[in-house]
Amino acid sequence: METVELLQTLCDAFGPSGFEEEVAETLQRLIAPYVDEMRVDALGNLIAIRRGTGDTTLMLDAHTDEIGFIISYIEENGFLRFTQTSGWDARIVPSHALTIRSDHGTFVKGYIGTPPPHILRPEDRDKPYKLEDLFVDIGVDSAEAVAALGVRVGSPAVIAYPFEQLNEQVVMARAIDDRAGCAVIVKTLEALAGQELEATVVACFSVQEEVGLRGATTAAYQIEPDIALVLETTVAADYPGIEPQRRPTRFGHGPAVVVMDNSMITRGATVRAITELADEHLVPWQYRIPYGGGTNAGAIHRSRGGVQTGVVSIPVRYFHSPYALMRLDDFENTVRLVTEFTRHCPGLARR
Ligand code: CO
Repeated sequence: METVELLQTLCDAFGPSGFEEEVAETLQRLIAPYVDEMRVDALGNLIAIRRGTGDTTLMLDAHTDEIGFIISYIEENGFLRFTQTSGWDARIVPSHALTIRSDHGTFVKGYIGTPPPHILRPEDRDKPYKLEDLFVDIGVDSAEAVAALGVRVGSPAVIAYPFEQLNEQVVMARAIDDRAGCAVIVKTLEALAGQELEATVVACFSVQEEVGLRGATTAAYQIEPDIALVLETTVAADYPGIEPQRRPTRFGHGPAVVVMDNSMITRGATVRAITELADEHLVPWQYRIPYGGGTNAGAIHRSRGGVQTGVVSIPVRYFHSPYALMRLDDFENTVRLVTEFTRHCPGLARR
């Protein structure tokens, strides 16, 4: 599938943590031509296997969940209270449109309303809203009307905004973290179609990364990889107000190689294997400056007796907010690097 169409399909699929079924079903359709077998495990991880000629297993991981919300209380007059599943800065949540998935499988739109300046008390003007004070207005006026729509305590929700392309190079979407990583795996499998590979590639689309690497924990245990590569998106902060040393990555400088975050310190040999491969194949790359964060690598590298694990992340601006921006050249260069990594895998595993 053409890149922008692929990104749009994946980014617009509904999948807050714990409710990733639509993403997994979409991915199953997309990768079916390129893999030998697939299964969805008890937690909802989609695990797809492409058999190689040798006995090395490479796990390619990307997470299917996105930061989202869950309905926590229904007011008698039809307003919905909600909480986040994880990952949100509560200050930026007010005044956005939401999509709620109902028990009927339909999507119900709503708006996180806030009072206008006309009726705000002067002392409240500079105060950020707390999540627990917010509510969603879905345009009905009773709890019965909410129930009739199939919305209840526990209904999942995400921000309502659709994928947009700003120009030939930049796209904007709600769930780029980490559907872009999922798309990298799809594109890598597509690029390697029909080629003989020594490594058995296990593509793992993991659930519940945003709530604590839960899917990757059980997936890595089943897959028992010899080597793993996590495909993620990460903070690009090359915009006003952020000093250079606090910019983990920059837009347009290629895939970012993670050396350390809060979840893993990448082994030096693994970092070198990735960066030397990028240099050999003339793929631009950058280090991700260590500055907070974490990925599924945190769970995978500690699986069983330990797994040599690397992380390659696409720089994304305005991470964990209603929209994130990504450059298509950074995406394509990440696909090139991961494709080469997969081709060279058994050699890299022995370094
Ligand atoms: Co992520």
